[in-house]
Amino acid sequence: MEIEKRGTNLMFIAVLVTLLAVMGYLYYEYYTQNQKINMLLEERNYFLLENASSTHTLTEERELASSTIADLSERLALTLEELEDVERDLKKEEDRNEEFEDQIREISGTVGVLDKLSKTDEELLQKYSRTYFLNENFVPMKIRQIDAEYILPGKKDQYFHGDAIGFLTDMLDAAKRAGHDLKIISAYRSFDEQADLKGQYTQVYGSGSNAFSADQGYSEHQLGTTVDLTDPVTGGTYTSFAQTEAYAWLIENAHRYGFILSYPEDNGFYIYEPWHWRFVGVDLASDLHREDKSFYDLDQRQLDEYLISIFD
Ligand code: DAL
Ligand code: ZN
Repeated sequence: MEIEKRGTNLMFIAVLVTLLAVMGYLYYEYYTQNQKINMLLEERNYFLLENASSTHTLTEERELASSTIADLSERLALTLEELEDVERDLKKEEDRNEEFEDQIREISGTVGVLDKLSKTDEELLQKYSRTYFLNENFVPMKIRQIDAEYILPGKKDQYFHGDAIGFLTDMLDAAKRAGHDLKIISAYRSFDEQADLKGQYTQVYGSGSNAFSADQGYSEHQLGTTVDLTDPVTGGTYTSFAQTEAYAWLIENAHRYGFILSYPEDNGFYIYEPWHWRFVGVDLASDLHREDKSFYDLDQRQLDEYLISIFD
């Protein structure tokens, strides 16, 4: 009985010890597992915290970048507006400058024209024939002696307008090169010279002289831009000059040097004067030649337009 009781106690102790051991083991397991879980949780929290903080920074950066872009766009828009304003102002300034330059050009042009006209005898394209009277005191602004080689032998010294003399000698030189010996009988004649000449003609021909000689103050010769030409064979102011080759050359070429025939056949002023040539400028002479018109066919208003370019 005692043995059975001791055996039962031992068994009870063994079971108890085993139970305690199992409980200890279970507790140990629970503790270590709990530790692991805690560690994992901590790690997770740490990760979450890390991510949370970096997400926050990115958002902030994005917001910052957006506001910077907006700010820059605004400044760019303002700068572009300012640039447009500057460009507008610049354009206005350029327009003003152009307008100013135009005005200057116009003024200088006008001044140039006035200056040119002030240096040009305004009488040079006036129709001085019979009804048009040239002031008795009129003397050309410039007058130069013509070289003797161009004068018909036996004639006195002759003078011509200083601005037109080059056109005259060029024409006579060109005629010479073409084989025509043109000579000057008479060029510039003052009011008094014309009065003397007309007086002599009147003594010989009476009123008949009015058909070929102008009264003083009415002669183109007083302008200093008119010459009577002939060839040495004809030798004078004769209508037969119209039959010469030298005359034919003048009819074809004189306009290139600014000369026109004042009194062609059937003109309303004087007899046909194939010797009497007047300088009116290359522009006008060429237009008259092209249109087959006489100087006296044009209105004074039309003729005046050529005055500015008479010596061009
Ligand atoms: N022989 C021209 C008409 C003059 O005397 O002017
Ligand atoms: Zn003449």
